[in-house]
Amino acid sequence: MTHLLVRGGRRLHGEIAALGAKNAALPMMAAAILCQGDVEVRNVPDIADVRVMADLLRSLGVRVEVTAPHTLRLNSDGVHTTRASYDLVRRLNASFDVAGPLLGRFGEAEVALPGGCNLGQRRVNLHLEAFRALGAEVHRLHGFVQAHATGLVGTRILFPHVSVGATKNALMAACLAKGVTVIENAAREPEIEDLVEFLQARGARIRGGGTARIEIEGVAALHGGTHDIIADRIETGTFLAMAATSGGDVLVRGGRADHLEAVLAQFTRAGQSVTVDASGVRLTSRRPIRALDVTTAPHPGFPTDLHPPLVAMLVLADGISVVRETIFDGRFMYVGELVRLGANIRISDHVAIVTGVKFLAGAPVEAPDIRAGAALIGAALAAEGESLVTGIDLVERGYERIDERLTMLGADIVRVEGTD
Ligand code: EPZ
Repeated sequence: MTHLLVRGGRRLHGEIAALGAKNAALPMMAAAILCQGDVEVRNVPDIADVRVMADLLRSLGVRVEVTAPHTLRLNSDGVHTTRASYDLVRRLNASFDVAGPLLGRFGEAEVALPGGCNLGQRRVNLHLEAFRALGAEVHRLHGFVQAHATGLVGTRILFPHVSVGATKNALMAACLAKGVTVIENAAREPEIEDLVEFLQARGARIRGGGTARIEIEGVAALHGGTHDIIADRIETGTFLAMAATSGGDVLVRGGRADHLEAVLAQFTRAGQSVTVDASGVRLTSRRPIRALDVTTAPHPGFPTDLHPPLVAMLVLADGISVVRETIFDGRFMYVGELVRLGANIRISDHVAIVTGVKFLAGAPVEAPDIRAGAALIGAALAAEGESLVTGIDLVERGYERIDERLTMLGADIVRVEGTD
């Protein structure tokens, strides 16, 4: 296990480059299965989740090479199996993104059901409903989803609630189907829009990427090519939250303000100074931090992935904040760890009630998931004294070289390779 020893009381200052979006890279790697010839994806973050997805694709027969820093070249013409094994899928929920492309190109997919994770149940019922609507036969057996179709046929899919994953899988499966598919109540996340742009450049006929209605006219085949991934809005928002929490001043170079409107509005409501220009997004912290009332929601609402980093800032606010979580049941695992640092937080029915405290004090804490870990590091930066943050392997699933990059911003962080 890797730990970070964080000596708090240091304000983050300076600038940091936004890296490519994890949640755009993962589906785009899976979408390479649909394409004939070489696919080059650039601005790919060098994180554990990308490495696991690469291993999964290789197990199917996809050639995946790192041809330059943050650049992958993939070729799926050698796919020899459509069975994605449990030992790989269990390591990454997004592994299920391969189901739609496998079904779309090869007419079958056998993918282990993603297990639960610390965020709670990760259901795939909407994915399977979409595959069935497209004409596939879908069964669950021995922990696997088995989908088979002699040929997918375009149809209308209306999701009862927004699902990023189900939107991705339906969209990718429909690219090579016969006829037109319309997805209603589709996810509008920027990563979906980027995936649509990637597919359009490969020859897919898609309209409405980034809106709640996506229309796909199936084509015979998709071809290779090159794509640059958008900047990671969740990483950008995380570093800005850390700047506010630590009392610092940080510019995230390349950060996309247009992907973070709901988030920047909350930082401003909290009294923080937010500046947007061609170079990126800057947050200059102000005191007092003003208390907030926030509800997470699908894009363009406040993203659930920035809920923990935001609360890490609100624990030092002047007054009582309320944060309602509407996406994941298990999003609150981080609260107990923040309390160990001196936070005053009560959870009541998917709502965190955060009473601001004057200071935090360093303590050993453990990261239960990617975004919770980032929140704990942010709080540890502001705490007086030392904090040992365990579970950094989890955090590094979503944030590349987070200790090095925070050190560049003035943090006092030492990496400790420890035993379990
Ligand atoms: C994606 O997860 C992201 N992961 C998550 O980021 C993000 O928090 C989430 O979208 C919401 O924005 C990737 O893109 C790899 P959903 P996903 O399908 O696709 C329920 C991170 O830290 N649901 O929109 O799994 C589901 O249980 C990760 O980067 C069903 O009920 O999210 C959840 O409660 C964490 N049935 C809600 O919908 C389904 O078939 C939202 O899930 C599918 C989902």
